[in-house]
Amino acid sequence: MSAKLKAVKSKLKNPASRRVAQKCGAGEWRKEIERILITDKQLAQRIKLLARQIEKDFAGRELVVVSLLNGTVVFLADLIRQLNLPLRLDFIGVSSYGADTKSGELVFTKELRLDVRGRDVLLVDDILDTGKTLIRVLPKLKALKPRRIKICVLLDKPARRVEKIKADYAGFSIPDFFVVGYGLDYAERYRNLPFVGVLHPHVYKKV
Ligand code: IMP
Ligand code: MG
Repeated sequence: MSAKLKAVKSKLKNPASRRVAQKCGAGEWRKEIERILITDKQLAQRIKLLARQIEKDFAGRELVVVSLLNGTVVFLADLIRQLNLPLRLDFIGVSSYGADTKSGELVFTKELRLDVRGRDVLLVDDILDTGKTLIRVLPKLKALKPRRIKICVLLDKPARRVEKIKADYAGFSIPDFFVVGYGLDYAERYRNLPFVGVLHPHVYKKV
């Protein structure tokens, strides 16, 4: 451990901030992540259980995993490596405009390439928040006539829901915090953090 990190650590009284400092190193990260909400170990454990559940429900079927870019990439990489099923993988690109913590207008940046007609589809997203993203993606997918579609999200924020939509598989139900890491971003940053952390409000309130 560097002398700089040691100095920062000794100043931190809050154990949650101390854990963030240990994971992120000294510097800007520490000030921007208020605390770790879900650790890398908790993520790994939960994803194994999700995979077992999905395997059971799709036993004997060949799955098409349709993942929404970009927020799912880290979760997806871990989830599919736990899935002991034959599967094919494709992506739909969606982006909501604006560097904001609220969902903006949705734009499709990549269309699906695989044929899903008559197939079993697992639709993967990072977080189910208001539900506005999935409520727009679902009819597009349904129009391609898959046999069935199940929704899998890493995080569920039920307090913020405005659309009537539920995930079939949800890793963690979380309170109304704006979270980053493990694929989730704020203004395209923080996706590479190995844990899910609460972003300090001072980061987005100054924008
Ligand atoms: P929804 O359309 O409101 O359900 O939001 C879905 C999208 O909003 C997610 O795929 C994320 O890209 C983004 N989002 C919602 N809440 C958060 C959050 O707490 N952190 C990072 N991104 C979020
Ligand atoms: Mg997203």
